[in-house]
Amino acid sequence: MNRKQFISQLGTIGAAALAAPVTGNTSLLAAASSQAQMPVVGNGGKIRVGVIGCGSVSGMYLPHLATCPYAEVVSLCDRIPERAQEAARKYNVKNWYPHIDKMLAGVAFDLFVNLTDMQEHGRLNRQALIAKRHVWSEKPMANTYAEGRELYELAKKQGVRFWGAPAVVNSPQFAFMAKQINENKLGRIAAAHAHYGHQGPDWSAFFFEEGGGSLPDLGVYNISTLTGLVGPVKSLVAITTIVNPTRNTGNKGYIRVVAEDNAMLVMEHQNNVLSHIQCGFNYFDPYGHEGTGQERPTLSVVGSAGNMHMVGYDWKPSGVDMATTDDEKTHRYATGKGTFVWEEGASVICQCLATGKEPLINAEHALHVLEIIEAARLSQAQGKRISLKSSFKWPVIAL
Ligand SMILES: NC(=O)c1ccc[n+]([C@@H]2O[C@H](COP(=O)([O-])OP(=O)(O)OC[C@H]3O[C@@H](n4cnc5c(N)ncnc54)[C@H](O)[C@@H]3O)[C@@H](O)[C@H]2O)c1
Repeated sequence: MNRKQFISQLGTIGAAALAAPVTGNTSLLAAASSQAQMPVVGNGGKIRVGVIGCGSVSGMYLPHLATCPYAEVVSLCDRIPERAQEAARKYNVKNWYPHIDKMLAGVAFDLFVNLTDMQEHGRLNRQALIAKRHVWSEKPMANTYAEGRELYELAKKQGVRFWGAPAVVNSPQFAFMAKQINENKLGRIAAAHAHYGHQGPDWSAFFFEEGGGSLPDLGVYNISTLTGLVGPVKSLVAITTIVNPTRNTGNKGYIRVVAEDNAMLVMEHQNNVLSHIQCGFNYFDPYGHEGTGQERPTLSVVGSAGNMHMVGYDWKPSGVDMATTDDEKTHRYATGKGTFVWEEGASVICQCLATGKEPLINAEHALHVLEIIEAARLSQAQGKRISLKSSFKWPVIAL
C-alpha cells in the first residue's frame, strides 16, 4: 500500500492527514478531552513501534506495518526467542528481546503492539502503560472488564493512549451501513443478527484454555460491529457450551477444552433494538479462517422501512445488500474494498498518533464489548439476564 492509499483509507481523516505536517513531535490528539499528549515521538514523524508476540497474527501485522508511512517497527519480543529473532530477520528489525522487561528497558519506542496469548494481555498492557507507552492490543484489551477500565484510567494518568482490536468499524461496508441507519433509511430499527465460526485455531492451546474461548476470539467481531451499528447494549442473555471437550493443539498436544467453544447471545440495545449473535469453534465453514470466497451475508439489520445484509464476514466484507420501502428489490452497495484489512489496527493508530487525528476505533467501545463478553459468561453461569454498566459514544460515523 502506498502513502496515498493508506491515507485514503480513513476517508476524511486522510484529507486532514495529507494537510497536516507530519513532524517529529506532533502533540497527540490534543482535542481528545480526557487524553494527554504523547510523551515521545521521534524518527522523522514515524511512530516507533514495539511488537510483542511474534506468532500467527504477527505474520499479518508486521507486513502491514512495514508499508505504513507513519510506522517504523524498531523492537520485537517473544517469550519464544527464536520467533522474535526470526521475525526480526524477516522484517529487518534491529532489536529483539525474549522478555517484556528487556523490551521495555531496551531501544525506545512509542507504541506497544500486543499480539500475545489472550490471557497475557492485561498483565503486559499494564506493564507497557506503566512504562508510558501507547498501547494497541489485540482483543481482548484486558482479561476482565474491571481490569480494562482500570488500565484505561491508568493510561490517562500516564498521559498515553490505549486502544483495542478489532478494527471492523473502519470498513467501507460498516461506514455504508452506519450512514443508512443514521439517515433513517431503514426506518425504526428493530432487530439485528450476526454469526461467525470456523473449526477453531489448531496452533495454540490458549484459545481453548481459561480466558480463551470463541467469544473473545470470534464473537468479538460481531459484537463490535452490531453495537457499532445499532448502539450500546443495555442487557443480555446468553447460553454457552463446550461442543468438543478435547483439542489437539500445535503447542501442547491434546488438551481439555475449558473455555466455551459455542455461544449464543440475545442483546437488548439501549434503543430497544434486539440483536442475536452466534459464534463457535465447531462450525464447518470452508471460508472460515481466511474468509476468502464467502459471498453470503453474515450480518443483518432490519427496520420498519428496510433491511441490510453485510456480505462476507464483518472483518472482511465485500458489499451490502439493501432493500427499502422506496425500492423493494434488493441491490448490492458498497462493493469497493478500499484499503481496509482487519490487520490494519496498529498502522491506523500510528497514523493517528503521528497526525493527531482521532481514530474511529474507540477504547470505550472496546471496553463495552469486553463487558458484553463477560456478561454473556455471567448469564450462562447464573442462568439469568445481565444488565450492562458501560456505554460508548454512538453513532460510530467518520466525520
Ligand atoms: N492468528 C490470527 O489469525 C488472529 C487474527 C486476529 C486476532 N488474533 C489475536 O491475536 C492474538 C495472538 O494470536 P495468535 O494466533 O498470533 O497466537 P500465537 O500463539 O500464534 O502467537 C502468540 C505469540 O505470543 C507469544 N507470547 C505469549 N505470551 C507472551 C509473553 N508474556 N511475552 C512474550 N511473548 C509472549 C507466544 O510465544 C506466541 O509466539 C490473540 O489475541 C488472538 O485472538 C489472531
